Amino acid sequence: MTLRISGTTKLCCIFGDPVEQTLSPQMHNAAFKALSLDMLYVPFHVTPDDLPTAINAIKAMGISGVNITIPHKQSVMALIDEVDEQARLIGSVNTIVNRDGLLTGYNTDGQGYLKSLTGETGFDPHDNSVVILGAGGTARSIAYNLLKATASRVLIANRTIEKAEALRNDLRSIFPEAHIDASGLNIAPELSQADLLINTTSLGMMGKGGAHPPVDISTLPPAAIVSDIVFKPLYTPLLIEAEAKGHKIHTGLGMLVCQGALGFELWTGREAPVEIMHKAAVDALEDD
Ligand SMILES: NC(=O)c1ccc[n+]([C@@H]2O[C@H](COP(=O)([O-])OP(=O)(O)OC[C@H]3O[C@@H](n4cnc5c(N)ncnc54)[C@H](OP(=O)(O)O)[C@@H]3O)[C@@H](O)[C@H]2O)c1
Repeated sequence: MTLRISGTTKLCCIFGDPVEQTLSPQMHNAAFKALSLDMLYVPFHVTPDDLPTAINAIKAMGISGVNITIPHKQSVMALIDEVDEQARLIGSVNTIVNRDGLLTGYNTDGQGYLKSLTGETGFDPHDNSVVILGAGGTARSIAYNLLKATASRVLIANRTIEKAEALRNDLRSIFPEAHIDASGLNIAPELSQADLLINTTSLGMMGKGGAHPPVDISTLPPAAIVSDIVFKPLYTPLLIEAEAKGHKIHTGLGMLVCQGALGFELWTGREAPVEIMHKAAVDALEDD
């Protein structure tokens, strides 16, 4: 790809620690090129200590838009000018838009996740029971969107149970009628009631050794779907086991594309070329 960078080129980027796993540069640069936009997307490795400085640099350097990834999605909220209502309720931000020096945070993760899940598997959360492994920034967004889509029960199961309880309490205050629980990772009895199991922990990620979350999925009903939001590798140890046991599986690639497409639309005001973004992400995974 020939890059045409000039004095007018607008910059978008991603801040994360680690950030090596990201496929967003390939996806967004392919989309900018497809729509002939004078824009460029680059990754920045930003540690927690450097996050305040990096956020100030968005204004100082006139950066148009930023994606926020692991582990900054919650801590970034205190550093920007305003947070959109939905992201405030979720308690996590994955996309920042710089409008003439005013930094506004959004969260497109849960919406993108649900769009991908429904599109690829036909799963409708309404009246269904979901178990979410993990209670981090992305779990917040996914749980919020599942409950908004009237899931009958959501169980947050996390290594650090206090974090699962904190998320449960936040969600109960938004959805007082909903059935929301919290637990540690010892959840074999609860899994027997689940229609959908989602891994939102970073276990399974290549850089973290590609581990299987410490849960026994043998009690899952055969019709339950198993979903993993980790996208590198696409087929995590959890998904490989679930598929071998006959479950329908859902990889993290669709979420990556759908959340990115929503961010692209916030930055550019243009409809995202979703198929081009999807192809760029697949190509990038294959090149790895
Ligand atoms: N497909 C996509 O588009 C997409 C979008 C966003 C994120 N992701 C992926 O989702 C993952 C989570 O991202 P995040 O931003 O939500 O991260 P985060 O806020 O840092 O949360 C990480 C979660 O993983 C758990 N965890 C980490 N190491 C663990 C271990 N050794 N054993 C058990 N649990 C462990 C943490 O549990 P504790 O609370 O006990 O520490 C926490 O619940 C990352 O792999 C990220 O790449 C994918």
